[in-house]
Amino acid sequence: MYIMKLRIGLIGAGGFGTLHLSGYKKNENCELIAVASRTEKHAKEAAKKFDIPKYYCGDDWTKMLEENNLDAVSICSPNYLHAPMTIEAIKNNVNILCEKPICISEKELEEIEIMLKSKELIYFSSFQKRYIGLFSKIKAIIDNKALGEINLVRHFFSHYGPYTSWKPLSEQKWFFDSELAGGGVLLDLGVHCIDILRYMLGEFHEVEGYSWNTSCKKIKNEDNGNVLVRFKNNSLGIISVSWCNEPMEHLELYGTKGTLKINPHSTNPLSFAPKKLKRNKFIKNALEYKPTSDIAQHLLIDHFIDCILKGKQEHPDFNDGKRATEFVLKAYSLK
Ligand SMILES: NC(=O)c1ccc[n+]([C@@H]2O[C@H](COP(=O)([O-])OP(=O)(O)OC[C@H]3O[C@@H](n4cnc5c(N)ncnc54)[C@H](OP(=O)(O)O)[C@@H]3O)[C@@H](O)[C@H]2O)c1
Repeated sequence: MYIMKLRIGLIGAGGFGTLHLSGYKKNENCELIAVASRTEKHAKEAAKKFDIPKYYCGDDWTKMLEENNLDAVSICSPNYLHAPMTIEAIKNNVNILCEKPICISEKELEEIEIMLKSKELIYFSSFQKRYIGLFSKIKAIIDNKALGEINLVRHFFSHYGPYTSWKPLSEQKWFFDSELAGGGVLLDLGVHCIDILRYMLGEFHEVEGYSWNTSCKKIKNEDNGNVLVRFKNNSLGIISVSWCNEPMEHLELYGTKGTLKINPHSTNPLSFAPKKLKRNKFIKNALEYKPTSDIAQHLLIDHFIDCILKGKQEHPDFNDGKRATEFVLKAYSLK
């Protein structure tokens, strides 16, 4: 049976936008129709590299959304543009995959939510960690109470920050401009932490504390941050993020029956106590996890395309993006 290919546009042909483009290129159920970037140079380069028929630059992303009868758009621009671009996409009935953070204020969250409710569009928040197989195995450990009741989690996530560990392409250097970025490391990395914890543990109830400083970058926003959070299951959480440290991610789960320590990027990602837990089938299953060559962002894109074809909204959805943004905004309100 011949399936019509979905017509895809992308805004923001930068570092991460390029990863989206290669994901769409590999998916046989869609075709890249148009790309937009701030500068003609980057729009043109992306169009050439990925064989995209049309490109737009400056503020012509609005024209891109209007002119091409798109089925879906990826929004990979600087954070302050996520909300206006999302709103235009909704007006043009285009399904949306939006990079994190999905916007930078409560007002924007509200506006997007109201508009989305008026349409039957598929909306995905770009939380690709959910597609790393190890996390679904850890979720099974938690859901099946292999560690008993979880009462404390700690999530540490760091690297040396944009322009050092991560290489954004735009010459605008927007990550370090508080107006354009909307926040610092907590908005950048903290949203991933809270999302993967929500995925595994369930909803958070309250943000109870926040400490931060600016110690290594010449910026107004935080380059280190610690958040205290309480989940609805009454588990306490600590999320600690940094743009001043060695690239590192580490999670600890403490339950009434045992402890699990996770280093998702290691070839030996799990350690646990007590030893008798190795007989538990969910722990065994997680210990058998082998990293694959799959790119998490591409798996997310495949899932997004599949949901559009089936007309079925799945996670990570708007509410997932909303809760992660609310988490950060609540922490910022405690400054
Ligand atoms: N999910 C993740 O793990 C992850 C990882 C990295 C980044 N991200 C997110 O992805 C987004 C982009 O980050 P990045 O690192 O890719 O930054 P980047 O390389 O600087 O890319 C930003 C892109 O947006 C374009 N842009 C700026 N203003 C525009 C406008 N008015 N119209 C159209 N395009 C415009 C820039 O164009 P020019 O290059 O032409 O100036 C650039 O191509 C951010 O929201 C970031 O948080 C997510």
